[in-house]
Amino acid sequence: MSKKIMILPGDGIGPEIVAQAVEVLKTVDAKFGLGLELSEGKIGGDSIDAFGEPLTDETLAAAGATDAVLLGAVGGPKWDQLGRDIRPERGLLKIRSKLGLFANYRPAILYPQLADASSLKPEVVAGLDILIVRELTGGIYFGEPRGIRTLENGEKQGFNTYVYSESEIERIARTAFEAAEKRNGKLCSVDKANVLEATVLWREVLDRLAPEYPNVELSHMYVDNAAMQLVRAPKQFDVMVTGNMFGDILSDAAAMLTGSIGMLPSASLNETGFGMYEPCHGSAPDIAGQGIANPLATILSAAMMLRYSLDAEEAAKAIEAAVSKVLDSGLRTADIYTDGMKKVSTAEMGAAVVAAL
Ligand code: NAD
Ligand code: IPM
Ligand code: MN
Repeated sequence: MSKKIMILPGDGIGPEIVAQAVEVLKTVDAKFGLGLELSEGKIGGDSIDAFGEPLTDETLAAAGATDAVLLGAVGGPKWDQLGRDIRPERGLLKIRSKLGLFANYRPAILYPQLADASSLKPEVVAGLDILIVRELTGGIYFGEPRGIRTLENGEKQGFNTYVYSESEIERIARTAFEAAEKRNGKLCSVDKANVLEATVLWREVLDRLAPEYPNVELSHMYVDNAAMQLVRAPKQFDVMVTGNMFGDILSDAAAMLTGSIGMLPSASLNETGFGMYEPCHGSAPDIAGQGIANPLATILSAAMMLRYSLDAEEAAKAIEAAVSKVLDSGLRTADIYTDGMKKVSTAEMGAAVVAAL
């Protein structure tokens, strides 16, 4: 039975890193007889340039009709002056929202070979394995009303709405409790319940559900402290669950614990289990076109796709083992380079993973 995958390379380094992940997918397809059928579409600035909007309804429908989506990154200075509704980022938010991809898993795992690449002391990050569960289709990213209005005194005012309904909180909370049950049984919910009502409710819902998960130890932490604890003693965490904006920020911080944002993959799932997979980083305009971006976050996202959407655990493990082997051999893209290692390009890193497979 064939499995359809839509590839959305996007902008900046997106096409460069996705090309490497596609080669890896083709390799495991041949090796494990997965029957993958790849198609390609446009999103972000790439779609704006071609169709005048960051995600067409045709592309959205085509993506929704596949078994999984692999995305690179969107955005860049070329499109930064466009209005909110047609900027590249809007295409990403639209596909997440329209496909109902509320559960965003961002695993921050330190490959032991990269302990020196982290900006933290090796002993602080050694053995790090945490999972950030980020709510992805609600919160201040989507709350209404929003906009920029002109006040009576002629001054402009920007405004957004931080809103979460009980049902939205409950479904992401259950996702996180279940993830914690399968891991080390520790769940830390991150909020700002000392200030924001939406997160007072968030905390109440988590507490209400906790007795249903007796094997999970639930704790709460304010987001400012959580940011600090992540860089002070990150191994105290197992699973962290939080809203859309806090999850965005904390996951970038967690990325640095693993050596680079170029190492952090993600999976975004909806209620039916359909998923989109993308690295946590953006289109990196500062290095786009130079062939030096780290493709591993995207390659590891492809592994997550095989695991969660395509029922191909063996192929997923093979990719993760290949990445580890390549790191063992000392190859490093610039972002994870340390003295004595061999600096390689995006394409060389991708080719090395393929060779290791
Ligand atoms: P960014 O993640 O693109 O880059 C931040 C820094 O990390 C840069 O110095 C960049 O060179 C580096 N970096 C990122 N990915 C890397 C990789 N794979 N290998 C090596 N280095 C890497 O964040 P930004 O600069 O704040 O945003 C740039 C653009 O990307 C913006 O338009 C933003 O909206 C967009 N963005 C998109 C996504 C996404 O598509 N999911 C995520 C974040 C930002
Ligand atoms: C991410 C990005 C996006 C987000 C932007 C580009 C809309 O930063 O995937 O982390 O904030 O969710
Ligand atoms: Mn982000």
